[in-house]
Amino acid sequence: MGGGLTPTVVDMDTIVSLCKRRGFIFQSSEIYGGIQGVFDYGPLGVELKNNLKKLWWRHNVYERDDMEGLDASILMNRRVWKYSGHEDTFVDPMVDCKLCKGRFRADKLGESQCLLHSKLHPGECEGELTEPRAFNMMFRTQVGPVADDESFAYLRPETAQGIFVNFKNVLDSTNRKLPFGIAQIGKAFRNEITPRNFIFRVREFEQMEIEYFCRPEEAEGAFDAWVKDHVDFWVNEVGLDREKLRLYEVPESDRAHYSKRTIDIFYQYPIGWEELEGIANRTDYDLGSHSRQQDSLGVQAQVIPNEHTTEKLTYFDHTTNKHVVPFVVEPSAGVDRGVLAALCEAYDEETLENGEKRVVLRLKPALSPIKVAVLPLKKNTPEIVAMAKSIKNELQKGGQMRAVYDDTAAIGKLYRRQDEVGTPFCVTVDFQSLEDQTVTVRDRDSMQQARLHINELKAALQDRLDS
Ligand code: GAP
Repeated sequence: MGGGLTPTVVDMDTIVSLCKRRGFIFQSSEIYGGIQGVFDYGPLGVELKNNLKKLWWRHNVYERDDMEGLDASILMNRRVWKYSGHEDTFVDPMVDCKLCKGRFRADKLGESQCLLHSKLHPGECEGELTEPRAFNMMFRTQVGPVADDESFAYLRPETAQGIFVNFKNVLDSTNRKLPFGIAQIGKAFRNEITPRNFIFRVREFEQMEIEYFCRPEEAEGAFDAWVKDHVDFWVNEVGLDREKLRLYEVPESDRAHYSKRTIDIFYQYPIGWEELEGIANRTDYDLGSHSRQQDSLGVQAQVIPNEHTTEKLTYFDHTTNKHVVPFVVEPSAGVDRGVLAALCEAYDEETLENGEKRVVLRLKPALSPIKVAVLPLKKNTPEIVAMAKSIKNELQKGGQMRAVYDDTAAIGKLYRRQDEVGTPFCVTVDFQSLEDQTVTVRDRDSMQQARLHINELKAALQDRLDS
């Protein structure tokens, strides 16, 4: 917020460098030169990412009456991807440069760099581009010890299919009635032609997906409700500025093969307005495909098990005494894009009265990797150190809040370090603490300090974290 007046405009390089320096996110396999489009979450990154997933799960599963959870496998029977349509249609258009042999996404040339002239986009140099051709983005892996044409599986490119193929299992084991949804968080893999922009477009990422099953006539209303609910989620729970979110009605020509309507929630990242989450009306496409027999033209004719599935993925409606294939509304968000948005939104630089620059991550406390840091004013005074460590132990007992102890620098520097990673509270133990058992509690955002008795410290911090 630039000292509370104007928002700090952050660029991607600043975020990337903070993430590396403070242990949020590292390039995967860095010591071997890395691997393109793959990243590792470090000690603070894993906490931030887990906190985002916890918030999402709480909001979408625990705080509702119409949701169940699932954790399906990444490897699935290959036929799932045939009947889902991904084998045939999960493609991006790709072009080759005949000169440098680089391969680029034909519809994103403006985002790519010519391999020979870094200031030019592909096609702007003397190299001629081939005609676009379809490139399937699913990764293949061998399953079992025999490597032949049949013994491979795909790494799932979306978590959604794990939900569809388990529809009947969940229905039968929970006795749910329509409408209800199934939520899942898990890894997805896409062999992106041009992964770029840090963790924005990567080849291995996580999704937070909901498949919400309803009667066909309920789908439109459910669609609108999920769009509204999830905009509110990003604003109220993750702390994104509503002004930096935009709804984008995806035109038919850009929609996925299964979608009758899609609205993307765009966030204003440092790289521009980009998709954070998509909400799609998938109709009865997926449950239908996994259930219906295909005729010779590939047209799905009747609701009978297809030649490979053993179960009809239908719902028996006792009011009409008929089987229906439910419609599905799908809110699907990328965890990594959520983490990136939260970091960009929270990043702030301000100039203090003494002229020093302070970097502060104004994360919502629920997202902060560390909730409280306990700091001794003097690390050479054993009684202060002992008291600080004992307070930290007491705070972390029960595991409700991540607490750390740090005495590796002077107090001012320790505060800056915690500000930079978004720790909402610092507790300082000083000489007065030894006499009257009180400590100072410093608030990250206002930098104001208050004295509290150690007996009331844990409850007071928990209260503030909960609110
Ligand atoms: N099941 C629907 C589905 O997968 P999608 O729009 O392709 O729809 C959903 O992906 C979300 O997953 C996106 O809104 C985005 O947040 C995230 N996502 C997709 N591809 C990604 C990639 N290569 N890197 C990081 N996140 C990605």
